[in-house]
Amino acid sequence: MPLPLSELAAQAEAIRIEAQKALNADALAPVKAKALGVKGLIREALSGIKDIPADERKDYGGRVNAIKNELEEFFAKREAELAKQAGAADSFFDHTLPGTRVHAGRLHPVASASRRMVDIFVSMGFDVFAGPEIEYERYNFDQLNIPAYHPARDDMDTYFLPGGLILRTHTSPVQVRTMERIKRREQIIVQMISPGRVFRRDRPDATHTPAFHQVEGLQVGEGVTMANMRWVLSEFARQFFGPETRVRLRPDYFPFVEPGAELAVTCPFCKGAGCRVCKQSGWIEVLGCGMVHPQVLRNVDIDPERYSGWAFGVGVERIAQILYQVPDARMFSENDYRLLRQFR
Ligand code: PHE
Repeated sequence: MPLPLSELAAQAEAIRIEAQKALNADALAPVKAKALGVKGLIREALSGIKDIPADERKDYGGRVNAIKNELEEFFAKREAELAKQAGAADSFFDHTLPGTRVHAGRLHPVASASRRMVDIFVSMGFDVFAGPEIEYERYNFDQLNIPAYHPARDDMDTYFLPGGLILRTHTSPVQVRTMERIKRREQIIVQMISPGRVFRRDRPDATHTPAFHQVEGLQVGEGVTMANMRWVLSEFARQFFGPETRVRLRPDYFPFVEPGAELAVTCPFCKGAGCRVCKQSGWIEVLGCGMVHPQVLRNVDIDPERYSGWAFGVGVERIAQILYQVPDARMFSENDYRLLRQFR
């Protein structure tokens, strides 16, 4: 008995519906066999062709072939669809799994301490200046009231370069460079902060490395006094070490300031009570400062009768060592990830 064409079309449609319900390749295969397999619908239709009247055979065969082509196309599409879905399932992202840790870069503790210092002064209206690490002796010493014979040069064992150049031994030459560059001479106001690297021919030990960092500060203007210095440095200390921090000024000597002072802060660990960090004194010496020496002002054509100023210089490694309890300054340049990873 030949399969009527209407019946063939109906069964083909039923198979397509079943194929849509097959959700993977394994479920689809038997459905495809029903349509196109050796015992499938198309074979069944073709096998009945001999019973069809000769004049209708061509027409019938053509229809069966057309349905066969349609089914082949349909199954090829459905197979591709399911294969794609299976691939997607393999790469399914399970967002309940713990993530892969990304080791992002971070700031070196010395860099972050230096930036924190600079940011505090910037918040108080200071401008950031930079000076060269390779410096003229003139800026590093002479202009700062440290002539060639001066014993203060011995305190800063210097790396000399050919051509009268040196590696700067402190950031104070930036004071001179900043004041020298002032264009508006009729009303001088300087508020600058300058972080940078400095060099001294010191034998490396727990508190000395031949290259280290300082932050320099300078304020110059009419009527600037030591009281201004004390307030700004106290505010800096409170912001940097904590709001309860108190400061202490004691006389100290630097050729480029007069009077010169050493600023100490109450120990941020024991709040001044005395502990291991402050060696039971309650105080930590933080920086050198003082009123800019009149000669230093004169050297850059600023009239010390009209203008006055104050300056300070702080060693960043020293502060970072105390703050982060790093026992040896050399650890800062060893780049040991076990140290560096502990900082943000
Ligand atoms: N330049 C001095 C030093 O390196 C610090 C300092 C700066 C002192 C400014 C007073 C004023 O030791």
